Amino acid sequence: MAKKIPVILDVDTGIDDGVSVMLALKSKKLDVKLITTCHGNTSIENINRNTLTIIGTLNEKVPVAEGMSHALEKDRPHVTVHGADGLGGYVLENNPLKMIDKSALEAAHEIIQSSLEPITYICVAPPTNLANLLKHYPEDYKKIKEVVLMVGSNEELKDGEVPYKEFNASVDPEALELVLKNPVKKVVVSMEMGHTAYLNWFDVYKTKITNTFGAILENIYRSYRDGHVHNGIAMHDGCAVAYVIDPSIFETKEAHFEVKYFESLSSGVGVVNYSKPANVTITTKVNIKKVKRLYFSSLKKCKKINIG
Ligand code: BDR
Ligand code: CA
Repeated sequence: MAKKIPVILDVDTGIDDGVSVMLALKSKKLDVKLITTCHGNTSIENINRNTLTIIGTLNEKVPVAEGMSHALEKDRPHVTVHGADGLGGYVLENNPLKMIDKSALEAAHEIIQSSLEPITYICVAPPTNLANLLKHYPEDYKKIKEVVLMVGSNEELKDGEVPYKEFNASVDPEALELVLKNPVKKVVVSMEMGHTAYLNWFDVYKTKITNTFGAILENIYRSYRDGHVHNGIAMHDGCAVAYVIDPSIFETKEAHFEVKYFESLSSGVGVVNYSKPANVTITTKVNIKKVKRLYFSSLKKCKKINIG
């Protein structure tokens, strides 16, 4: 069997982050060395608890380290599309798992430096932890195979157009700029993927009847209010993990990806600009059937769960 891909997963759990944790931990292809938490969908305290809740419920063990509780340079208001606490009120009481006693920065750096194989760093949160890592340890890129970021859009802006704010980019555009300046190989999984490969209401029903973990997810999904998807559950973060598990699920292009600031948005966005030399690989199309097949096969593996 092929060697597993060693990964660090950076999350702000978050409903779709929870799905990305399930996909990563249940994949035979990935070896999740570390999960780091980052400010974003809710407070860092909620994000820590939600992340441990998902891992604990799945009966898995993986080190979880706390990362940045605020943006790199400038804090911006967060939105609450994931409900009040980020996980639809679901908490695993008596969770045996605890955060490790090391910062995300130091834990990630140590794992990157000590790994025999280059690490794949998957970031499905604002890119603050990743920027912080590359700011303190710019040479770590030499031991990173690639960073896969759920961020921004694959649309090229037309003159005068003000785009839709993708959350992870707009919460910390300065961090995104810093990541883009580092020579590390970058893959951008754009927001259009999650908006296309959403779970429709039949998929949500199938999720509920698959097993107890599916029933928990279905209940959590009731709090998800992604403004762009009125018919179902967007799978942004799941798509980033799916890309690492099976890149053939996506069509990609080489593109120049950059941050543009808009006063009217009080923030920045991540967009492509095909007139400049490419600096990333960006996903342009997702095979919806394949991504859903991966989701349900992963869910079916969640059998012996812990419900406290
Ligand atoms: C991103 O924003 C967050 O709310 C989601 O978890 C995802 O990472 C999508 O724009
Ligand atoms: Ca997220």
